[in-house]
Amino acid sequence: MALGELPDYPWDEMAPFAARARAHPDGIVDLSIGSPVDPTPEVVRSALAEATDAHAYPQTAGTVRLREAIVAWYERRRGVTGLTEANVLPTIGSKEFVAWLPFMLGLGEGDVVVHPRAAYPTYAIGAQIAGATAFASDDPDEWPANTRLVWTNSPGNPDGRVLDLAALQRAVARARSLGAVIAGDECYAELGWDGLWASEPVPSILDARVTGGDLTGVIAAYSLSKQSNLAGYRAAFAAGDPALVARLVTVRKHAGMIPPGPVQTAMVAALGDDLHVAEQKERYRARRDVLRPALERAGLRIDESAAGLYLWATEGRDAWSTIEALATRGILAGPGHFYGPYFPEHVRFSLTASDERIAAAASRLAASGLR
Ligand SMILES: Cc1ncc(COP(=O)(O)O)c(C=O)c1O
Repeated sequence: MALGELPDYPWDEMAPFAARARAHPDGIVDLSIGSPVDPTPEVVRSALAEATDAHAYPQTAGTVRLREAIVAWYERRRGVTGLTEANVLPTIGSKEFVAWLPFMLGLGEGDVVVHPRAAYPTYAIGAQIAGATAFASDDPDEWPANTRLVWTNSPGNPDGRVLDLAALQRAVARARSLGAVIAGDECYAELGWDGLWASEPVPSILDARVTGGDLTGVIAAYSLSKQSNLAGYRAAFAAGDPALVARLVTVRKHAGMIPPGPVQTAMVAALGDDLHVAEQKERYRARRDVLRPALERAGLRIDESAAGLYLWATEGRDAWSTIEALATRGILAGPGHFYGPYFPEHVRFSLTASDERIAAAASRLAASGLR
C-alpha cells in the first residue's frame, strides 16, 4: 500500500461549519470531537511527576507493576479472571494499536478485516495500511471466508451500541470458525447508561462466558484516554491470547513502539484508583442528562447510545443539513458520513464539553429549535 493513497483527514471538511459556529456571539459549543476537557486527576499527575527521571529505555512489554495493575484492573472492573502478566501489553494510546494491528498480524492483499457498520474510521485505515480489505458488517453470518481479523467495538463509537453476552459469543464463535483473530475495542466500557447497562457492567470480549475460558485468537483493546482524562499521555493497553500478545510484543520491540516510562508509571496510578473514574462518569452523566432531552425537544431522535461517550442522533435528513443548522446555532457535531456510508442522516454529539458549554447548547436549542 502506498501511504499517499490514504484519505485526507475528513475533519478538514468541517472547517466552514467550525468557522460558522465560532462566529456565534456566545462562542462555539464543540461537541464534534471526543477529546476530554476535564483535568487529569491529581493522583495520575503526581505519579507522572515523580517518574521524570527516565534515563533508561522503557520496557515494550510494560513494567511488571504495570502488567500487574492491568491484570488486577481486568479482574476488578471487567470481571475477567485468570489473566497473568503474559496476557497483557501496554500501547501508546489505542489508536496506534487499531491502526497497526492488521499489519502487525502480517495481513495483506486478499485478507479481510471486518469492522462495525457505524465505525471509528481507524479500523478501515488499519486494513488499508496493511494492504488488506476492510468489510463493514455487524452480522457474523456475512463475514467472508477470507476474514483474518474482526473488530468489535462495544460500547460503540459513534453509536453507543452495546454487544451483550450473546452477541459477543456469536462474534467469537464465527471468528473462530473462520480462523480469524477477533479484537474487541472496549474503551468506553465504564460508561453504561441505559437499560441493562445502568446496573450491569458492559461485558468484555475476554469474559469467560464469551470465550468459554479459551482466549485463543481473542484480544481486547482498552484506553485510559477517556476514563482518566489523559488522552495527552497516550496510555492504553491490550489483553488476551498470550501467544498473540507475545508475538505483538516482539514486533513492537523491533518497531520501537514503546510507551514512555513515566507514562507507564502514571498508568499504574490511574488503574489503581477507581474513584476518579466514578467521578468522571458522573460528570458525563450530568452532561448527558442535559443534552439528550435538549436534542430530543429540538426534533432529533436518539438511536442506540445506551453506553459510551456519544449521542447518536438523527433528524431524518442529510447529516450535513443538520450540521449546518447546528453550526448556525454555534454548535459543532460530527456527521454520520465520517463513520462509514451507512448512516448519512445521523450526527454524533460528544459529551466532552464543559457543563457550562453543554448548558449553552441546550439553551440555544430550546430558544430556536433546529428548523
Ligand atoms: C473506538 C475507539 N477506539 C480507539 C480510540 C483511540 O483512543 P486512544 O488512542 O486515545 O487510546 C478511540 C478514540 O476516540 C475510539 O473512539
